Amino acid sequence: MNSVDLFQEWVTSRSQRTEAALDALLDSAQTNPARLHEAMRYAAQGGGKRIRPLLVYAAGQLGNDSDAKTEAALDAAAVAIECIHAYSLVHDDLPCMDDDDLRRGRPTVHKAFDEATALLVGDALQTRAFEILANAPCAADVRLSMIASLAAASGSRGMAGGQAIDLESVGKKLDLSGLQQMHAMKTGALLSCAVELGGIAAQLNSVQMAHLQDYSRALGLAFQIVDDVLDATADSQTLGKTAGKDAINDKPTYVTLMGLDYAQKTAKELQEKAIQSLDSFGSKAQALKDLAFLVVNRGK
Ligand code: IPE
Ligand code: IPE
Ligand code: MG
Ligand code: MG
Ligand code: MG
Repeated sequence: MNSVDLFQEWVTSRSQRTEAALDALLDSAQTNPARLHEAMRYAAQGGGKRIRPLLVYAAGQLGNDSDAKTEAALDAAAVAIECIHAYSLVHDDLPCMDDDDLRRGRPTVHKAFDEATALLVGDALQTRAFEILANAPCAADVRLSMIASLAAASGSRGMAGGQAIDLESVGKKLDLSGLQQMHAMKTGALLSCAVELGGIAAQLNSVQMAHLQDYSRALGLAFQIVDDVLDATADSQTLGKTAGKDAINDKPTYVTLMGLDYAQKTAKELQEKAIQSLDSFGSKAQALKDLAFLVVNRGK
């Protein structure tokens, strides 16, 4: 089997594992109140590339040996970060934020259900994420580190803070460093956290964690640049979300500030930087390297 097929097989198996873990760790749609639980499942289970869980599993492979506790920690981390991500999308799509009707090829949660339910889905997915980490069948210090990492990445110094800057910036022209800061927070923080959670579960040392941080900072920025590029260049059917939405909402993006060519070139440079940061891990880091390639070249 060639390396592309091997990676594709890895992605398929880890994605299936993510779906199974999500199904097991989310409350059933019949749990009272049924409408809220049904909407939570709709938000978290309706497709998506599962990039964050894949990053968790890929970073989790860098350890020396993997036992049942490591595997349980990785499953909990994969589901927890996907719950936070799904919540961020549900809120991002609300009329008071980006006002979007389409997500993952289906009506957004506030369209399929209603706005109040969408708000509560976000609240409840967020708390469920931390409950899942707190109850993961692994060592208490691992659980605590994972909870601290996910909380920091999700909150006002991470994703939620980045979303606040995004909303404040509508109609404004950020400079390049302001744009990088916004991207690093609204998108980069959770992507970096995914990698960090894998590293925590695998009990990597501080030098290894620092290399992972270099990787994930570059990847996080590249991810949002590519999201901006695709918003401007791809169609809604391919994206599964409304194309051209950034221009409609007058958002500052890499494309509006620096132009399409510069944005694409920067994403490519960041991909290379991310991959180089993994040199010391050798072949164990192949999945992380392949994921960096996938993120930057998706949609091509
Ligand atoms: C979209 O994230 C929102 C951003 C942070 C740019 P993804 O592109 O990972 O969305 P899904 O999970 O695949 O739907
Ligand atoms: C959203 O960025 C980042 C989040 C924290 C959800 P976007 O607003 O560009 O994400 P999409 O394009 O709607 O997925
Ligand atoms: Mg947004
Ligand atoms: Mg949006
Ligand atoms: Mg976008």
